[in-house]
Amino acid sequence: MKTIDYDSVSKVYDEVRTGDPEMVQHILEGITLTHDSKVLDVGCGTGNNTLLLQAATSSKLIGLDISRGMLQKARQKTDLIQLVQSPAESIPFADQSFRLVYMTEVLHHIRDIRAALRELHRILEPEGSICIVTQSHRQIEERMTSRFFPASAKVDKERYPDINVIEGVLTASGFSDVQPVSLSFRPVRLGNDYLLTVTGRGYSMLHKISKNDFEWGLKRLRAAYDAGEELIYSAGYTFVWAKK
Ligand SMILES: C[S@@+](CC[C@H](N)C(=O)[O-])C[C@H]1O[C@@H](n2cnc3c(N)ncnc32)[C@H](O)[C@@H]1O
Repeated sequence: MKTIDYDSVSKVYDEVRTGDPEMVQHILEGITLTHDSKVLDVGCGTGNNTLLLQAATSSKLIGLDISRGMLQKARQKTDLIQLVQSPAESIPFADQSFRLVYMTEVLHHIRDIRAALRELHRILEPEGSICIVTQSHRQIEERMTSRFFPASAKVDKERYPDINVIEGVLTASGFSDVQPVSLSFRPVRLGNDYLLTVTGRGYSMLHKISKNDFEWGLKRLRAAYDAGEELIYSAGYTFVWAKK
């Protein structure tokens, strides 16, 4: 499948995505960090979750991303966080450097997840932790967007490795104590912003479905709004934890 050009996406990414305090809170609840701990945000993008995590901890945080454009956007937001341009498959840090490595909505973009997870294992301290935040195939099917655009769920199930696959690759990369934790986030009402984002194909999977599937879904979504239906959505995520 064709990879997404994040240097181009960086120009509009923050119009559609923000940091997610609930997601960051769940990561921090899963680990004890001190001011000596080093933490790596892998695929940090425009730094939205990196900044939230930085604000909530005294640890030294570093952001890493393959895209120069995404990192430039992150740099405009802070001078305080070290940002490194690098693929996750080949990371310019010494062995045993980090207490925690985490990634939010990144694994399905990585071309060679085996190589990336081997690298992340290498740079973790003994007993260090990894946290991969992703969506299971069931959680993809339960997205609001999948209700109106079922073809988008099919596309994303091809892009996202399901949880059992991630567990297998983590174990094969030397990790132990692999534990997926599935969570439903606070329900939100999807208002006009959601309709505008969908109309502009603001979600990447809407670029990957046919014109007919898109127009059919948009028609049904508009009809739901016109009928006054309340679209309440609780996003589901899986936090796959493992230890070195
Ligand atoms: C959907 S964005 C997520 C950004 C950020 N983690 C967030 O939650 O907003 C995916 C990010 O992964 C980065 N990425 C994709 N493949 C990568 C790789 N092989 N190594 C490092 N970063 C990668 C992209 O450049 C992009 O910034």
